Amino acid sequence: MVLSFSRRTFVDRALALGAIALSSRSLTAFAQSNPTSTIASALRLGRRLRRGDITQIQWQDSIGPLMQSLTADELSDAVGLEALRRRARQVPRGMSMVPVPLLDTLDHDDGAAMRVFFFRAGRTDPPHCHFNSVTAHMVLSGRFRVRHWDRLREEPGRFVLRPTRDRRIGPGDLTSISEQRENAHWHEALTDGVLIDIEQGRLDPSRPPRSRQMLDPTTPPRRDGTIVAPALTVPQALRRFG
Ligand SMILES: [Fe+2]
Repeated sequence: MVLSFSRRTFVDRALALGAIALSSRSLTAFAQSNPTSTIASALRLGRRLRRGDITQIQWQDSIGPLMQSLTADELSDAVGLEALRRRARQVPRGMSMVPVPLLDTLDHDDGAAMRVFFFRAGRTDPPHCHFNSVTAHMVLSGRFRVRHWDRLREEPGRFVLRPTRDRRIGPGDLTSISEQRENAHWHEALTDGVLIDIEQGRLDPSRPPRSRQMLDPTTPPRRDGTIVAPALTVPQALRRFG
């Protein structure tokens, strides 16, 4: 118990220093010894963001080293992946999302969420943007193409985006979004694959809840490199991209 407390204190102090301190070998050793505590630390990171102790960019810069101090296999074991897989529905398009019950056993703030996404090869989580939240996705298995855009502004029925990254990722790789950096994303499964999603929503509790917004980012770029992405309904997005 004493050891557990001191490890937690170490991680909390590292987190309190902001984004920079989280990639140490000591943190890696800690995480490997206790994956559940690492997940608890990720939830505390969301709490710190929500309380204004760190910025959204610091959350993004910190959540990667923190979660990647676990291997994909360690994280899969910690969340009981195979039991979750048995609960996944077969879906004709898009992916199957299963909440992670471990979340309910750990302290977390309002708006926190943890889910696993199961994909068949060739399926995608259609392109969309988020509001008032940060999320991170780590690959547990398979390979994905992931594309990101900064959300520059919203106009009636559409969003102005700037493309940022388009890459192939595999087990242990992590992507993240926030209101401030790479807010829109699109995960495409190149093989059968699994992502785990760690989210902190309701960052500003005074803002009314707003679901993620599907959009079409495949319009040609304008001269300044930005694109105008029409908003889509979920059925439209699944038909076109899922
Ligand atoms: Fe998303």
